Amino acid sequence: MTELTLQKDAALAAIADAASLEALDEQRVAALGKKGWVSLALKTLGQMSPEQRQEAAPAIQAVRAEIASAIEAKKAALEAAELESQLASETLDLTLPAPVRPQGSVHPVSQVMDELAEIFADLGFAVATGPEIEDDWHNFTALNMDESHPARAMHDTFYFPDAVPDGGQPASSSEALGQKKMLLRTHTSPVQIRSMKEQGAPIRLIAPGRVYRSDSDATHTPMFHQVEGLVVDRDIHLGHLKWTLETFFKAFFEREDITLRLRPSYFPFTEPSVEVDVGYSNEGNRRVVGGHGDAEGHDWMELGGSGMVNRRVLEMAGVDPDEYQGFAFGLGIDRIAMLKYGMNDLRAFFDGDPRWLSHYGFGAVDQPTLSAGVGAPS
Ligand code: PHE
Repeated sequence: MTELTLQKDAALAAIADAASLEALDEQRVAALGKKGWVSLALKTLGQMSPEQRQEAAPAIQAVRAEIASAIEAKKAALEAAELESQLASETLDLTLPAPVRPQGSVHPVSQVMDELAEIFADLGFAVATGPEIEDDWHNFTALNMDESHPARAMHDTFYFPDAVPDGGQPASSSEALGQKKMLLRTHTSPVQIRSMKEQGAPIRLIAPGRVYRSDSDATHTPMFHQVEGLVVDRDIHLGHLKWTLETFFKAFFEREDITLRLRPSYFPFTEPSVEVDVGYSNEGNRRVVGGHGDAEGHDWMELGGSGMVNRRVLEMAGVDPDEYQGFAFGLGIDRIAMLKYGMNDLRAFFDGDPRWLSHYGFGAVDQPTLSAGVGAPS
């Protein structure tokens, strides 16, 4: 028994002295491991007489418990100390500047959307958004294209299969589903309706975003980007529309000699409707915006549609057309991005090729501002 006490005292001292978790574990193995002295002491019980055993067993068990709890306590202390020193050595200085070369770049479409927001914010326009999965009513009906309207056919719409209504029974006909038929929006114009219904008049906003049409060649992709513009207020007329577009294009292309031509056209949701053309010339194989389209070496290029908001559209969106008038326009973002930054294949916009992006992309920290020029610094 005295031998056991000596062994115990020595072990407790060694445990107290252990400077690391590894050193502590060596002590655990030496005492409590299969061939440890505590285990060996327990084995001697087998050769003892019952009387001897009755005396020795509790003593050995007590030693075992004492050693185990000493190891446990020391382990907790060592772990706490290790965490402390780790925390002390791994400090992070949040005041240090960011890494010099940020990875990745901003896609030209995102860049142009930021430029649009910047220019139009300066003119007092808010930025609105709407869902890309839209219902038939917002995309067509409320824009004065009821179910039989021929203009619907021009949109190459992606429709969703008929939805199953909440009751669980599929509707027997698409008519029963009525206006709730779902589709991928074919233009950003439904945001006009949603914004007027939500905010009423007066209103001044742009709505940039993705739109979808079943169409694909060198100049058309099934998904592309538009920006909608909408102004509703008292005494709004076509002159406001022309000034707004002219002011925007001058700021966007960063040149004063922008000439617009408004060409009579037709959209169900505007009356009168005009197509917006801009004068340009060819420099090498690149189109450069500027100058009068009828001038020597110049021509006109269509950039989008626009017009005065049709009274029926105002009515359907809950705005009184006798009190308020409005103008609206829709421009292709990809198109004006290509013109400004000189790309000639639309499809490359959506290939996700990192070489294209590193060539045409913009630095993540170069935010477009009016004072520094909306385009990225070269
Ligand atoms: N939504 C039309 C289109 O996608 C563009 C447009 C918008 C025309 C607003 C007039 C007014 O072709």
